[in-house]
Amino acid sequence: MQPSGLYLQLFSIHGLVRGNMLELGRDADTGGQVKYVVELAKALGERDEVAKVDLVTRLIDDKKVASDYGQAIEPLSDKVSIVRIQCGGKKYLRKELLWPHLEEFIDKTIRFIKLQGKTPDLFHGHYADAGYVAMDLASAFDAPFIFTGHSLGRNKREKLLADGLSEARINKQYKMDTRIQVEEDIMRRADLIITSTQQEVDKQYGLYDNGHHDRFAVIPPGIDLDTFYPFYDFQLDSELLNEEVKQIRFTLFNELHRFWTHPEKPFILTLCRPDHRKNITGLLEAYGTSQELKAVANLAIFAGIRRNITTMEDNEQEVLTDMLLQMDRYDLYGKLAIPKQHDFATEVPELYRICADSHGVFVNPAMIEPFGLSLIEASASGLPIVATNDGGPVDIVGNCENGILVDATDPKEITEALHSILVDESQWSLFSNNGINGVRNHYSWQVHCEKTMQHACQLLPAFKDSMKHQEAQTTVQPSPSYGKRLTNVKQLMITDIDNTLVGDNQSMQELFSLLGEYRKDLAWGVATGRSMELTLEAMTEYNFPMPDILICSVGTEIYYGPDLRHDKGWQKHISKQWNPEKLKEVLSSLDFLVSQEAEGQRSHKVSYYLEDKEENLARVKEQLKKNNVRCQVIYSHGQFLDILPFRASKGKAIDYLRYKFDFPPRHVMVAGDSGNDEDMIAGRARGLVVGNHSEDLEALRGKRNIYFSPKTYASGVIDGLKHYGFM
Ligand code: GLC
Ligand code: MG
Repeated sequence: MQPSGLYLQLFSIHGLVRGNMLELGRDADTGGQVKYVVELAKALGERDEVAKVDLVTRLIDDKKVASDYGQAIEPLSDKVSIVRIQCGGKKYLRKELLWPHLEEFIDKTIRFIKLQGKTPDLFHGHYADAGYVAMDLASAFDAPFIFTGHSLGRNKREKLLADGLSEARINKQYKMDTRIQVEEDIMRRADLIITSTQQEVDKQYGLYDNGHHDRFAVIPPGIDLDTFYPFYDFQLDSELLNEEVKQIRFTLFNELHRFWTHPEKPFILTLCRPDHRKNITGLLEAYGTSQELKAVANLAIFAGIRRNITTMEDNEQEVLTDMLLQMDRYDLYGKLAIPKQHDFATEVPELYRICADSHGVFVNPAMIEPFGLSLIEASASGLPIVATNDGGPVDIVGNCENGILVDATDPKEITEALHSILVDESQWSLFSNNGINGVRNHYSWQVHCEKTMQHACQLLPAFKDSMKHQEAQTTVQPSPSYGKRLTNVKQLMITDIDNTLVGDNQSMQELFSLLGEYRKDLAWGVATGRSMELTLEAMTEYNFPMPDILICSVGTEIYYGPDLRHDKGWQKHISKQWNPEKLKEVLSSLDFLVSQEAEGQRSHKVSYYLEDKEENLARVKEQLKKNNVRCQVIYSHGQFLDILPFRASKGKAIDYLRYKFDFPPRHVMVAGDSGNDEDMIAGRARGLVVGNHSEDLEALRGKRNIYFSPKTYASGVIDGLKHYGFM
């Protein structure tokens, strides 16, 4: 069965992502992955079964970068858009600094989904940060979760250790522990992991405890074949050679020719970041020490963009300085071109074609190359390739038979491979043609998307149901996940437990059956001073159905039914300036305070018993103020004293839920009976006070949007629901 009308959400959070003129290489976070996800999103949108694709990334509104990255929605085609979600402020942050802000990203994406009224069928995360986000959303919406790593932490850590960085420095600068931990989780939970090569599965995922299973699919990325067309197309289709292309070629020729005394010779080309792992040194040795090679070809090294080497990062500075020193040592003046600048998006395809036109060779001298996108692009343009026999190039040359693999640690092998192609015209032509044809068969985005969708469709409920049907199984309708449910209902009712929901059994059961009846439009939850454990106890004792939402411990914890999923976004949000140790310390001098039992003490709630005397409460507040403890003090029932983070309370938890799931205030009713319900009843939602309320709430009488029911306990709640037109 072929599903239709699918809505896919792809996530790629870090770096600078936009639809056109990608700034690849501008910084460490804006590279191959950005290009990959933009092209993937566009290509997925071309498929018939796909109705909508969002590429979700971070919104950046920062003078240091173009204003494009601050646009909330950027349409790429009629079906495809880039959606930008703000988190951790608006400044551009490097990816390692985004970890603390991902919960915010998740919450705001849920809100975005609710606002547009359409739930994605599939969540696909790219890299660990976005994987974390997609994983959480997939489980919130009960949808499949697909992951593409692009690169992984464990082998990166090994490389950094090998570079001499200490474990501590690696964790501090790269937040490596967090990343690896998240990657383990992702690998355990992903429904499908897409890799570009088999080596990635074996050598990279293989390093993880959870990296051994069969939910992998090796699907290499595609390249944009309209951009990377063969060099000979100019001769066949003169329209391609328009003014813009002519100008680019002219610039490139000028740039190259100012380095070379014999520009008519073929040239060897390499293109890479100035990183010593790219082994530019090895290539220079291979070229510089071979008279034969120097005689037949020039060399061009495009190693990123540089203005002033002395102001660059250490690693880059070292690589570039070495390059200049080697040029001098091997006396490569007149032979080696090392242009300072190039524009990836427009110049690189022409550069490949100019090199192919010269009957040159593309070389990637890196010792290990995980994939080798530039090798594929060069091949598509008609360049034979020479590359390492470790990693992605093995697949590329295996698929296309378009070049020679070498042991890149041995400069002699590089020399011989390059020389043999350059001096053998028939070999050169065979490799060139094989590359052009092979890339079209193996590395187009159309082929990539076809394979991806084949795998993805097997994960969709429609497909699973049809399989079940064939097995003649009865399908039990599972209750929908909280994300789907809370973004689909219209109204929400939140009630306190003790003395509001419970107190009168008969009306409580009546309320439960009404909630069942109105279930389609109305979700409900409890908000209580009880901890989650004590809430569950009450549920068993009074025989409650599972609420959609549990706001526990006076609003410091939020859970979603039926599987009691903890809202980590809320937890993160209220943690600000919360210092329970200091608070306890400060209050320890007040001997009239009695600590509550262990159940009353939670990560974000410190509770005492306090005898009902006004001056005591005043002394508590004064003591906290005097010591600059930022917090919230809630006193109820003439005996309970709860101290919470300043951002938390039942009312604030409800505001948060209203924001996250986008409920307008008139669609939320809040019911309670006592002082610790006050702030939620007095909030913007519709308030309901039951007839049996305690004195604490009298102050609310007569206020707007607060209804004092004459009826008691759950009868009062039912009365309120009717009063506000919820039923
Ligand atoms: C519940 C909690 C207690 C809290 C009280 C008032 O009884 O168990 O810790 O102080 O509610 O919120
Ligand atoms: Mg109560």
